Amino acid sequence: MFYPAIRKVLFQFDAETIHELTIKGLKSTGKSPVNVLYKQSVPNKPVTVMGIKFPNPVGLAAGLDKNGECINAFAAMGFGFVEVGTVTPRPQPGNDKPRIFRLPKANAVINRMGFNNKGVDYLVSQVQAANFKGVLGINIGKNKDTPEENAKDDYIHCMRKVYNFASYITVNISSPNTPGLRSLQYGEALNELLSALKAEQTALAEQYDKYVPVAVKIAPDLSAEEVNSIAQSLIDNNIDGVIATNTTLSREGVEGLEFGDEQGGLSGAPVKDKSTQVIKLLSQALNNKLPIIGVGGIASSEDANEKLQAGASLVQVYTGFIYQGPPLVKEIVNGL
Ligand SMILES: Cc1cc2nc3c(=O)[nH]c(=O)nc-3n(C[C@H](O)[C@H](O)[C@H](O)COP(=O)(O)O)c2cc1C
Repeated sequence: MFYPAIRKVLFQFDAETIHELTIKGLKSTGKSPVNVLYKQSVPNKPVTVMGIKFPNPVGLAAGLDKNGECINAFAAMGFGFVEVGTVTPRPQPGNDKPRIFRLPKANAVINRMGFNNKGVDYLVSQVQAANFKGVLGINIGKNKDTPEENAKDDYIHCMRKVYNFASYITVNISSPNTPGLRSLQYGEALNELLSALKAEQTALAEQYDKYVPVAVKIAPDLSAEEVNSIAQSLIDNNIDGVIATNTTLSREGVEGLEFGDEQGGLSGAPVKDKSTQVIKLLSQALNNKLPIIGVGGIASSEDANEKLQAGASLVQVYTGFIYQGPPLVKEIVNGL
């Protein structure tokens, strides 16, 4: 693999320009013979989680393929599962550019994308076209201009649209870039949302005669008390899994660096320990009642193993993958 050389060139350009070009390239080559450029075989290390059989426990985290345009390309790189989205009911442009910043000295990224996406109908059309036979997560959210008190309606709208096409559905209530979203993680607001989504899932399971698990994605910026309270809500509402964690609002580890005080969510190495800590707390509170998907700062097989030891059953990567490309997937799977 020649990713280090490619990265040197790619990192000369603005992060979002490169992102867009990469998505275009992967979209057009995912199913074609040109995919030999990034296709690799990884060992089979199957695990069954949420009732789903995963070929290996290493997944692509949400936010890289927001519109589900490159599913086959990412699968060709050896990911055991691909999570697309976050998608919202209606298309929306997201925040003004620039809105994504690389901090190479800290192996980190700060982003304030704001759920830029082409809307759930477009995503579903892409998923249908992909005809992907592997494990596909679809991550759903709310439109920026939907009032907080109606957030539930957006999640339910997306859930209905994607239900028949997803292996599992992720309810994202932890992006720091949609005002008010993270408040859905607490108390009655969380219970109300989860019970409504559970009821919808039950109805859809009957309608389609298949059960699609629902996972909830949470932030790293939570106190132990808050993690315990979330864990209890997940158990009480029979949620199928939890993804920990999203990006952090903390700037620990990037102080004084170029772009270190840009607004948005910080990901990569600086979020690693925070995320592992949340996984440990969740693991104690959940007592194996539902599985944890660990994500945050994974950049090696050691990092992935640390998440598994903390209590995760699966892992996902995003920022590590930006820095290291497809070889990281192989390294992690080999080292598990
Ligand atoms: C540019 C960028 C965009 C992201 N977009 C989303 C998103 O749309 N939905 C989501 O649930 N997480 C999103 N994330 C968060 C990642 O999925 C992941 O939870 C977080 O970055 C921590 O993992 P990492 O340190 O491996 O990047 C995004 C992260 C980055 C860097």
